Amino acid sequence: MNVEEIKKNATQAIAACGDSAALNDVRVKYLGKKGEITSLMKQMGQLSPEERPAFGKDVNTLRTEVEQALKERQSIIAHKEQQKKMQGEVIDITLPGTGGKVGALHPLTQVYYELRDIFVSMGFDVLEGPEVELDEYNFEKLNIPKEHPSRDAQDTFYISDDVVLRTHTSPVQIRTMLTQKPPIRMICPGRVFRCDDVDATHSPVFMQLEGLVVDKNIRFSDLKGTINTFLKSYYGEDVKTKFRPGFFPFTEPSAEVDVTCTVCKGSGCPACKGAGMIEVLGCGSVNPVVLRNVGLDPEEYSGFAFGLGVDRLATTKYGITDIRLLYENDVRFLGQFV
Ligand code: DAH
Repeated sequence: MNVEEIKKNATQAIAACGDSAALNDVRVKYLGKKGEITSLMKQMGQLSPEERPAFGKDVNTLRTEVEQALKERQSIIAHKEQQKKMQGEVIDITLPGTGGKVGALHPLTQVYYELRDIFVSMGFDVLEGPEVELDEYNFEKLNIPKEHPSRDAQDTFYISDDVVLRTHTSPVQIRTMLTQKPPIRMICPGRVFRCDDVDATHSPVFMQLEGLVVDKNIRFSDLKGTINTFLKSYYGEDVKTKFRPGFFPFTEPSAEVDVTCTVCKGSGCPACKGAGMIEVLGCGSVNPVVLRNVGLDPEEYSGFAFGLGVDRLATTKYGITDIRLLYENDVRFLGQFV
């Protein structure tokens, strides 16, 4: 076969190739070890020296042309094959996505942050105390005598005779007054523990927020002003507050504070047991006995204190009737506070 014929056949064969495999067969047929163009090269030896240069040149040109044709065809085929592959992989963008789950703060944390921010804006420091506390600080120095019912083992988790799981955040008042000189203006949040069975209104672990102000000339009216300002910024300007006389060994006089029920706005409903008001915190002027217990002179200094349950502030604000919801962490409940 001569050069022209091979060129014609090879060009036709290449053009007819539909895929890489067929193209490879054509490559082998012409350029492989026993391929037609390779064989032509081998024939060179049989030619006379005069014929060789022209023939060699023709065969080389042929080989270059065929190689070039193969290359061009290869790139067309590669493009087609890729196109085909991509069509098979079409992404259905109408399918619903799996969605990413975004975390959020627990409602109790949200409420705590809100309370904290209100007090910080009023100039209070934020302090902490230990959860495992000395009996002396949890009870004794707070003027809670040995025979007080709250010291009963039914209410308190005793670690030893002298050490308890704190039953309230009030011992942080003692720790603060023992280590800081007045003026003191602080809040301390934290977990507290009581030997209570779990029900709709009780949990053996819950969160309190305590407040303490000690300085010269602090009066009960300062307490009222602070608490009213705080409750209005937390529940809203139109909330009504009521200070009722109460009793706490560490404050004298003491008060319990009610706010209008956020569910019925005061008309009476199951959430407030028909009263229209809900108790939210305890407070009072720091008992002079407590001041003396920490080495402060009640003639020189006076103060006020308050304590509240963070869960209670959450349930009353959001109309939650069972505190277990706040601790069971069912995401269907928690998801409502995102
Ligand atoms: N410690 C009290 C309790 O756990 C709450 C409390 C009431 C704290 C009056 C105070 C206060 O500081 O003045 O029930």
